[in-house]
Amino acid sequence: MKAGQVWHLGNIGVMQILPGTRHRPPLKRPIWIIFLVSLVSLFLVCAYIYPPQGSAACYVFSSRGCMVLSDWLPPVLAREYTDEEIASRVVAREILKMPPIKSENSKIAFMFLSPHSLPFEKLWDKFFRGYEGKFSVYVHASKEKPVHVSRYFFNRDIHSDEVVWGKISMVDAERRLLANALKDPDNKHFVLLSDSCVPLHSFEYVYNYLMHSNISFVDCFRDPGPHGNGRYSDHMLPEVEKKDFRKGAQWFSLTRQHAVIVLADNLYYSKFRDYCKPGLEGKNCIADEHYLPTFFHILDPGGIANWSVTHVDWSERKWHPKLYKAQDITLELLKNITSIDESIHVTSDEKKEEQVQPCLWNGIKRPCYLFARKFHPEALDKLLKLFPDYTTQFDRDF
Ligand SMILES: *[C@@H]1O[C@H](CO)[C@@H](O)[C@H](O)[C@H]1NC(C)=O
Ligand SMILES: *[C@@H]1O[C@H](CO)[C@@H](O)[C@H](O)[C@H]1NC(C)=O
Ligand SMILES: *[C@@H]1O[C@H](CO)[C@@H](O)[C@H](O)[C@H]1NC(C)=O
Repeated sequence: MKAGQVWHLGNIGVMQILPGTRHRPPLKRPIWIIFLVSLVSLFLVCAYIYPPQGSAACYVFSSRGCMVLSDWLPPVLAREYTDEEIASRVVAREILKMPPIKSENSKIAFMFLSPHSLPFEKLWDKFFRGYEGKFSVYVHASKEKPVHVSRYFFNRDIHSDEVVWGKISMVDAERRLLANALKDPDNKHFVLLSDSCVPLHSFEYVYNYLMHSNISFVDCFRDPGPHGNGRYSDHMLPEVEKKDFRKGAQWFSLTRQHAVIVLADNLYYSKFRDYCKPGLEGKNCIADEHYLPTFFHILDPGGIANWSVTHVDWSERKWHPKLYKAQDITLELLKNITSIDESIHVTSDEKKEEQVQPCLWNGIKRPCYLFARKFHPEALDKLLKLFPDYTTQFDRDF
């Protein structure tokens, strides 16, 4: 219909400007055009199949040197964004453009996600002692009301709800923690920790590491295998394309601006709530392993480090990461973990490709990790004993 109208108008225009055309045989012009178009198409197809690589051929195309055919074709048109997508992107961009709020007393929010009491509270107590006013603690206990032993944890429980592994309720708990922690304008970085996490450095080291970095530490990589892109569902289209689907451990540290855009998001969140869950379409999509990595990859890829500051050991290649027991806890183990300065991601396809990246902190290669998991509760006593040693010995290289 549209094409017909254009053709019609075109004819009128031609007739008005060149009245002589009326006397020409009517079919001549279209045939001439069809012939020309065919010739150009044939040329382009040939050029595509046999790209001009020889130097002689190159000069036919350009005097500056060889050009690929794609340089000649118009760029592939970007997909037209949906209304919600335009809104999401503009909101994120505006928030990210705002200069960070300065405050005299910048704090780090330590947000604990746990089913019950925290077995390493005594260790965290040692970690926090002397730094009052520079941190705030939030606890989301999803199963039982925790019994606290450290004064830094008293009255720090937030309203919580049930968390089902792999489901969006995990992300909901993370958002609940972020919302509560954002209420305090002094909180500048928001660290998510589990009940099996322990600190690897002194408070001062952790504070300086996070406070002097303007990026978030969100684990993010492309895994073409079954535990990565294999979990993607086409129902997430058009906003979440398979090429943008990412994976990463959930244990993040977010800047304040990133915490705000996570809470402002409904579009991407609802895609993962509805189409990323265990058992859907025979896949085992884990919302907390894909939502934030994909979200940040789409909205602010340069604003995340692509690794998590919480170390975990998957080298045993089992369904669960290595669990450190009391007998594993030695100064040597802690030294090994704190000296890692490259992040390694392994794809889940047959290739098991290792993606190795240096941990660049403000452009300088630095140790990657501030915290580590998973530690068995019985490791507490040994960690308490070693804490003064490992924090004084391994913090010096800062
Ligand atoms: C972080 O800060 C540095 C120096 O101030 C700047 O060059 C860099 O672009 C910033 N990065 C982001 C993601 O804002
Ligand atoms: C993280 O990875 C993305 C590509 O996915 C890249 O654009 C970004 O620069 C990386 N971040 C840093 C801090 O290197
Ligand atoms: C520490 O790293 C060294 C060198 O890679 C290794 O030989 C040793 O077994 C590691 N020790 C522990 C306790 O992990």
